[in-house]
Amino acid sequence: MQQTYINKVGAFEGQTVELRGWLYRKRKGGKIVFLQVRDGTGIIQAIVTKDHEAAFEAAKRLTTESSLIVRGVVSADPRSPSGYELQASEVDIVHIAEEYPITPKAHGAEFLLDQRHLWIRSSKQVPLLRVRHEVMQAIRDFFHEREFIATESPLLTPISVEGTTTLFGTQYFDLGQAYLSQSGQLYLEATAMALGRVYWIGPAFRAEKSKTRKHLTEFWMAEGEMAYYSHEDNLALQEDLVKYIIQRVLEHKSMELDALGRDRAPLERTVADPFARVSYDEAVALINSDALLTFMAQKWTQRHGLEDEDNTSEGESETTEEAVLPELSNEDVRRIVDENHWRMVVGDDFGAPHEEALSHHFGKPVFIEKYPASMKPFYMEPDPQNPERVLNADLIAPEGYGEIIGGSSRAFELEVLERKLKAHNLPQEPYQWFLDLRRYGSVPHAGFGLGVERTVAWVSGVHHLRECIPFPRQIHRLYP
Ligand code: 4AD
Ligand code: MG
Repeated sequence: MQQTYINKVGAFEGQTVELRGWLYRKRKGGKIVFLQVRDGTGIIQAIVTKDHEAAFEAAKRLTTESSLIVRGVVSADPRSPSGYELQASEVDIVHIAEEYPITPKAHGAEFLLDQRHLWIRSSKQVPLLRVRHEVMQAIRDFFHEREFIATESPLLTPISVEGTTTLFGTQYFDLGQAYLSQSGQLYLEATAMALGRVYWIGPAFRAEKSKTRKHLTEFWMAEGEMAYYSHEDNLALQEDLVKYIIQRVLEHKSMELDALGRDRAPLERTVADPFARVSYDEAVALINSDALLTFMAQKWTQRHGLEDEDNTSEGESETTEEAVLPELSNEDVRRIVDENHWRMVVGDDFGAPHEEALSHHFGKPVFIEKYPASMKPFYMEPDPQNPERVLNADLIAPEGYGEIIGGSSRAFELEVLERKLKAHNLPQEPYQWFLDLRRYGSVPHAGFGLGVERTVAWVSGVHHLRECIPFPRQIHRLYP
């Protein structure tokens, strides 16, 4: 008899197979038990009748999340999501589970997060983690196919990359203060000077005080760093990478996208169309236009009082839905815009409502490039056309998912970098090794970091980042 996995049963129609898994749900009739069995690759219904006495008795004993081995004949069933069901003849109990804390009824988000070690088994979380796997593997394959070298950056560091306000510190033996890495970038700049084009996927730590759906304190970042790449080269590579990831998920995780109820149209458009591009200054002007301010006010009205970001339930998926926008008078728009301080001046950063309005305006991923130097970290290369601006770009995902990539050309002249360290009130001494890269064979180079969880959230159509990583870390959460 063939042992197989639920997502492979299609190859065994009419044959007897063995599946090893867990009981997801159970329904009983008088002479029949329906077992929803899961094994990590999918869920299948196994039908156990009284004709198979021992199997029937075992099936009756099974509780939610009990582990079992089931054998039976695979038959096609167009009504089931997998397209197949199992006519079971044998059921072996591996372990009878205690009363399971997660039930089909709606649970609060905090309860589910406290049970995260179990919640990950659910019918939405399994496909979500499988999509995450595909995203990670696609990133590796993308870089590998282009002959980038995978390399690693340390996680314990003596310096900050992305500013000092979000650093996690720890005492490091007799050497004083160490910090958890906010990004592997600075070390990748060194390995890029050794190996040419490098990448890594690693954890990043940010002591984010903000409690939003888009921020974790520990998340994963995919970073590329490329010697001799221009700003244009950098953006082209990022666009290729994002399209590659989406294409891979569309091709290989179709069942998972169905299970998540993800609308494919916006993903297919992302792969087909070139990304949009605006400068920071143009984006600020757009935000201050009547059209975008009105959109933001409409969105706000639609949500106001309805939005409850901290509630979710096991069964229903929280997606960003496009409902009909309410009509508002000019007076209302002005009042809401003023109360929320949404008009921007140069030097302001885009908040979530701004990003949502911009992504609505463009209807596809958009690069916002050339930010004021004062708003961005010390390492960015000044724009030769306007030294007040830097050669950077943030990539904003559509459908309100916000910034998924931050990248830039790197300042590569020693004097420029020393000046920028000073301007950012950073000490020169611990950065000497980094300055060495500008002393010995410095070259123009560029790189970027893609947020893995934000990408997974967008691709899956999942509202909150905390579901897009197995064990989220947030300002108020360190358990489990
Ligand atoms: O824009 P960021 O801060 O860029 C860097 O760290 C650069 N050093 C990367 C580089 O050039 N090598 O972060 C990159 C991306 C963001 O666009 C966002 O997608 C994600 O990382 N990110 C977060 N994701 C979850 N939680 C947080 N607190 C995040 N902060 C950034
Ligand atoms: Mg950023």
